[in-house]
Amino acid sequence: MPDVAVLPGDGIGPEVAAEARLALEQLAPDVELHEHLVGAAAIRATGEPLPQETLDACLGATAVLKGPVGDPEFDAADVRPEQGLLALRAALDAYANLRPAVLGEVDVLIVRELVGGLYFGERGVREDGTVFDTCEYHPSQVERIARRAFEVARSRGGRLTSVDKANVLETSRLWRRVVDEVAPGYPDVRVEHMLVDNAAMQLATSPEQFDVLVTENTFGDILSDLAAAVTGGLGLAPSASLSDDGPGIFEPVHGSAPDIAARGVANPTAMLRSTALLLEHGLGRADEAASLRRAIEHALATAPTPDLGGTATTGELGAAVRAQLAVDGVPVGPYRGGDGTHA
Ligand code: NAD
Ligand code: IPM
Ligand code: MN
Repeated sequence: MPDVAVLPGDGIGPEVAAEARLALEQLAPDVELHEHLVGAAAIRATGEPLPQETLDACLGATAVLKGPVGDPEFDAADVRPEQGLLALRAALDAYANLRPAVLGEVDVLIVRELVGGLYFGERGVREDGTVFDTCEYHPSQVERIARRAFEVARSRGGRLTSVDKANVLETSRLWRRVVDEVAPGYPDVRVEHMLVDNAAMQLATSPEQFDVLVTENTFGDILSDLAAAVTGGLGLAPSASLSDDGPGIFEPVHGSAPDIAARGVANPTAMLRSTALLLEHGLGRADEAASLRRAIEHALATAPTPDLGGTATTGELGAAVRAQLAVDGVPVGPYRGGDGTHA
């Protein structure tokens, strides 16, 4: 029986996670859902942002459905909610972060390296008070994310843009060299290199030119918020973080949005789309993922939340998704297997 670890997280996390849970229960009633603490909620309860119980549950799960973490209360603390997220990504070796951004003629997929670079390099304070973070990449880390990106590019439009800062950084020169070494194995993919500052400008002004972008951790973090902004906003942007064999983490690109938390107005679409990615990549249920995506499109047209110029609450958008699922002929009752034939 598939087992999904649900980590609601902080701020708007529990609000959007509740809608994702309900949709998942409706679409895949045989899947077991178990909730666990992460982030600020976990620090308050246990003192740690990723309690052992949560980590063990995620390691043993089929997939992880995660809400955002983060709380201004802990911004200056030594133990911070975000450390739990980074530890979880590292523990699951969820190195391949797929962040799709789609709207109209724009259909970009950012493939972000997720367990290396500045986020995980040596850091500290020197005697003279200088504070440092270091950016490090081993060739094998670049090679595996490059291969992933070529594979997904091959399955889509066949175009890959590798983004780096090779005019300045050693790690970027390594990145570019390894991408060029991997490229001949994918003769059907057209690869180009682009400097990250130009990539940001191009994403803002002509995002429709891109198919798949592949980049290191920090650049991918920044460019994925930008890609979300040009395709309808952070409330719409999902992600999947995949390893080679273990459970993936499925979470929105956005954060805990403390400015709108506890008001019931957060857009649950990014979380629901992350649930569709979970159905597809985490549970191998492409049909259910497609049903959920159709229902989300319908609900967005009929019950948009305030970030989209509408007046629907989080719960109303979620209810519109479930109502559409009920009329769209998605499976009712026990799951019958992965061959697309359902009751
Ligand atoms: P944020 O993404 O939380 O919010 C940025 C802006 O987008 C805010 O105005 C917010 O109201 C809006 N927004 C975000 N999601 C929305 C949604 N679903 N519906 C409507 N509006 C939405 O970024 P931030 O304010 O810089 O960060 C807040 C906290 O979240 C920080 O602690 C940060 O570390 C954390 N964070 C966590 C994750 C994660 O867990 N994956 C991702 C990003 C940020
Ligand atoms: C994201 C977030 C995280 C990141 C933070 C909260 C650690 O911004 O998932 O994009 O930088 O990876
Ligand atoms: Mn981010």
